[in-house]
Amino acid sequence: MAPLVVILFLVFSIAGITAAPAKESDLDWWQSCVVYQIYPRSFRDSDGDGVGDLKGITEKLDYLVDLGVCAVWMSPIYKSPMVDFGYDISNYTEIDPIFGTMEDFEELRDRAHELGLKVIMDFVVSYTSDQMIWFQKSVRREDGYDDWYLWALGEKNESAPHGYNLPSNWLSAFRGSGWNWNEERQQFYFHTFTKEQPDLNYRDPGVVKAMKDVLRYWVDKGVDGFRVDAVPNMVEDINLHDELISGLVDDPDDYEYLTHIYTQHQPETYDMVQQWREVLDEYKGKDGHTRVMMTENYGPIDKVLQYYGTVERPGANFPFNFYLITNLDKNSRAHDFDRVIDMWLGNLQENNWPDWLLGNHDQHRVASRYGVEMADALNMLSLLLPGTAITYMGEELGMEDTDVSWQDTVDPWGINAGEANYKKYSRDPERTPFQWDDTTNAGFSSSNKTWLPVNSNYKTVNVETEKQATRSHYHVYKQLIELRKTRTIQRGSTYTLALTDNVFAFTRVLDSSDPVVVVINLGDVSETVNLSSLGSLPDALNVYASSIHSDYRPGVIVDTRALGLHPKEALVLTAS
Ligand code: GLC
Ligand code: MG
Repeated sequence: MAPLVVILFLVFSIAGITAAPAKESDLDWWQSCVVYQIYPRSFRDSDGDGVGDLKGITEKLDYLVDLGVCAVWMSPIYKSPMVDFGYDISNYTEIDPIFGTMEDFEELRDRAHELGLKVIMDFVVSYTSDQMIWFQKSVRREDGYDDWYLWALGEKNESAPHGYNLPSNWLSAFRGSGWNWNEERQQFYFHTFTKEQPDLNYRDPGVVKAMKDVLRYWVDKGVDGFRVDAVPNMVEDINLHDELISGLVDDPDDYEYLTHIYTQHQPETYDMVQQWREVLDEYKGKDGHTRVMMTENYGPIDKVLQYYGTVERPGANFPFNFYLITNLDKNSRAHDFDRVIDMWLGNLQENNWPDWLLGNHDQHRVASRYGVEMADALNMLSLLLPGTAITYMGEELGMEDTDVSWQDTVDPWGINAGEANYKKYSRDPERTPFQWDDTTNAGFSSSNKTWLPVNSNYKTVNVETEKQATRSHYHVYKQLIELRKTRTIQRGSTYTLALTDNVFAFTRVLDSSDPVVVVINLGDVSETVNLSSLGSLPDALNVYASSIHSDYRPGVIVDTRALGLHPKEALVLTAS
């Protein structure tokens, strides 16, 4: 049987090569997709209160269609006291009034679907708000809710503030002990993030059922998938073992002070992800439509890959590949890019689908991490390497971090660090309002004051200005999305190479006479490179797209044996 399958596959792929490239994609929607992350507070404010909202998003869906993305993932829009700006949820099936109403959500969903856009929700699974009814019942030990959260006492100790030691040395990701005393229940509860976000206990079957019900609620509402939040932190060691000191930092209140072998990536976590996949596949079994599950998981590659699950018991459609964020920056050289990209692609199993991210609402903006002159080059990587691309709003414009003063700082992680250190931790710089045009508040809001300040570069970095410019990050981004529609990008093989210390290149090839080649000079000096070590390439190729300061305009023919590149110049070359 196996050889026959191989032969059929070869016949099929040869047919694919000779057939016209305009063939319909044979990938599922979420595979050819560019997912666009919207941070709802900052996208578009329709009612002038200084905070973005659902009507604002609906108003701007045409922009996303025009850009060419296929899905929107919205950070949480549920009922929330907003201690962590929506990641602290007090009701999973209600919309927070700051964002609008359930009718507004339904309107957004319907309009998106009419336009051919998929809608992906944030599924926040590791913790709830302390204002959630489940937590309040758990505090009072009511109705079987006793163990829905992680309650514990350390050893009795008369001299400790509450008469007991802390149950373990575990830290909060936002500084200090992860244990907080609850006066009413006379116990500590564990919180990975703020103390207003108590961690759920997945060892209680009630929690497992309740969270599956949340998933079903939103699938029944017609959403197309989920980004599952803070997955590694879902389950903690049952014996509350102390964690070891990492040696990475000196500050004992910094989360990095400890290794997280007892509070992250526990076996039960993987199992839970697989259970959610079962729920989603149950729906797919009925109507054939995939509800995608993408998981947020920082960590070492061996831990992260396990979120894919197995062939028999799949987990996430893809775990987020954060390595372009965490393992590379403006000091990285060509062999670093080669190594980090290979680490991902080279470790995937046959059934694992790759993905690429450059940023999100928790990370400084890619244009600031790598330098804005690298913005196009990075988009070339995320959009032309094989797999699903996830764009954080504004990456298509080269939006940069905003300098936010201590007075204007609102992120709890920044505030917990205090005035002297807040810049090291605050995520406000990457969360400031989206830049639509050069009018007041960059066209984001008509309010006198927006919840975070608008970046002072908005007069030049904005949608309208970039649309009108002959060359802009926006235009490059759109060209790249267009190229993704070819079978070469969807199905072609990938080869990456450090051509020199500073010149990184990769090819995507389906038919050797029609390759796509990306070449990036990461360095500060000009270089002339010979692309022949990338494989047998035509002597002359056409510039399909170039970084905005490049001298090569699209349409120009270049010599692949002697290609001159200015500092930070990036090119996409094609045969025709
Ligand atoms: C997730 C979110 C982040 C949030 C954290 C705690 O990691 O991406 O924004 O602060 O959860 O709520
Ligand atoms: Mg508003």
